[in-house]
Amino acid sequence: MRKTDWWKNAVVYQIYPKSFQDSNSDGIGDLKGIINRLDYLKRLGINVIWLCPVYQSPMDDGGYDISDYYHINPMFGSDEDMDELIQKADKMGIKILMDLVVNHTSDEHEWFQKALKDPDSKYADYYIFKETADGNPPNNWRSYFGEPAWTKIEGTNRFYLHEFSKKQPDLNWENQSLREEIYRMVNYWLDKGLAGFRIDAIGNIKKRLEFKTFQPDGEDGLRYIGDWVLNQPGIEIFLQELTEKTFRPHNSMTVAEANVPEELLNLFIGDLGFFSMVFDFSYTDIDVPATGEWFRPKAFTPEELKKTIFESQRMVQEKGWGALYLENHDQNRSVNKYIPEKDIGYHSKTMLASLFFFLRGTPFIYQGQEIGMENIRMDSIEDYDDIATRGQYKRAVNAGFDKKTAFDIVAKRSRDNSRTPMQWDSGKNAGFSNAEHTWLKVNPNYKDINAADQEFSDSVLKFYRKLIHLRRDSKYSNIIINGEFLPYETEDPCVIAYQRIILNERLLVIHNFQNIKSYIRIPGKNTEAVIGNYTGNYHQSNTCQELYQLSPYECIALYLNT
Ligand code: NOJ
Repeated sequence: MRKTDWWKNAVVYQIYPKSFQDSNSDGIGDLKGIINRLDYLKRLGINVIWLCPVYQSPMDDGGYDISDYYHINPMFGSDEDMDELIQKADKMGIKILMDLVVNHTSDEHEWFQKALKDPDSKYADYYIFKETADGNPPNNWRSYFGEPAWTKIEGTNRFYLHEFSKKQPDLNWENQSLREEIYRMVNYWLDKGLAGFRIDAIGNIKKRLEFKTFQPDGEDGLRYIGDWVLNQPGIEIFLQELTEKTFRPHNSMTVAEANVPEELLNLFIGDLGFFSMVFDFSYTDIDVPATGEWFRPKAFTPEELKKTIFESQRMVQEKGWGALYLENHDQNRSVNKYIPEKDIGYHSKTMLASLFFFLRGTPFIYQGQEIGMENIRMDSIEDYDDIATRGQYKRAVNAGFDKKTAFDIVAKRSRDNSRTPMQWDSGKNAGFSNAEHTWLKVNPNYKDINAADQEFSDSVLKFYRKLIHLRRDSKYSNIIINGEFLPYETEDPCVIAYQRIILNERLLVIHNFQNIKSYIRIPGKNTEAVIGNYTGNYHQSNTCQELYQLSPYECIALYLNT
């Protein structure tokens, strides 16, 4: 049994280090920059930071291509800076999670370099190599970033497998000595006082290798790789071993980036599950087809969003505990995804905040979400750094989209939308850096959207602070953290309402997901308004307000004690 599920009380803040705060004026965020901003995070009220990868890396995929697991990328600072961050944060009551990327390494990792040099070395079996007689790839799988998943080693008929970029060769988890190397590395970090990990692509570590030409599913003659590498039978053996040899003895918080089907959820997050929680992609990828082709976006309605969120809550609640999020470094900004452009503003932003924050699970806020940062629109595809954006653009053009349309669609969904520098104030580079050029453009809207200006009333930032305070340290904390989730039926499909219940206490959270008025029936007596984004609309009262009129994009949480 787990000792204590301390992470249930946590509110996590995700930092994309390259874009959070630059301390040495090179246009790139760094660890000292994060240390300098700990006060801001403390004041926000969060108590856990998830740090995207800061290990040594050629940065082909934003650091998810690690060339040395034991050392910090000089771009972000030194190994000592990392120790300092862990210690200083700890003193302030903030724990740190790092990103654990063990489905693949960088091709510049010494294991891969040794494997290339000597096909008979033990390192050759740390990866997945396949030689073919005719020099053609072993099969026609398409990697997640759009290129073929096998890359040929020059001058040979030998290929290696990579589910992501060709600079990210997949590790071979079947090899026991590789697994032991991984466990040693994980324990090295945990022993330093790290609270745990967000674990990258962990559902992909078991592969079902088949060598033949599959029926293509795209104009490129390739076939989406997911069906052979996601949640494959046998993965549970690796995950069990990983957790027993590393996380469990440390009582770590572990968040698996793994879209787990319902029938496997118990193994992942049940009482004796491998992880503390998993990220569910269903409502953040609601606009993306199952094959991950953003360039063919899927339309959806607030009603579909409601169903998807409720279904996710039901599944997770039956089995264990969940991670709540609307944004991360792989998503575009949530307001641009869920809200029509003309309606984006204080009310829609705070409504989204309330929508995910009162659900059952541990909330994750992505940097800039708490000030309502929005998508950026860059001028041309060359301005985008993200490898996935470039891949999707290329595929869209190959599929027959004209360049302008391809660009428009891809720009809207680009991962760089959330990777632009944090907007701290209205000064140079939004207070992110003193450099002449930042590594990625600052969103030109920083004069209107920045943290410093939001110290005034009715700001998105203040709303987030209040939400965090309510969850972590208020008379409602118990119900917000531990209450059972229950959908609340509404007549208007665009009103999303749900309840959290403990014994005779009830929290009813209501969201009017549209720019017109609506109404809702309020049950029970003795209602108390906990938080809302139209101050004064709801009259705190001891009587049951049968029909409550909702303003456009209004959210309100009511506490009922019956
Ligand atoms: C998921 C990470 O969040 C994403 O940024 C990365 O590109 C892939 N995994 C590959 O590591």
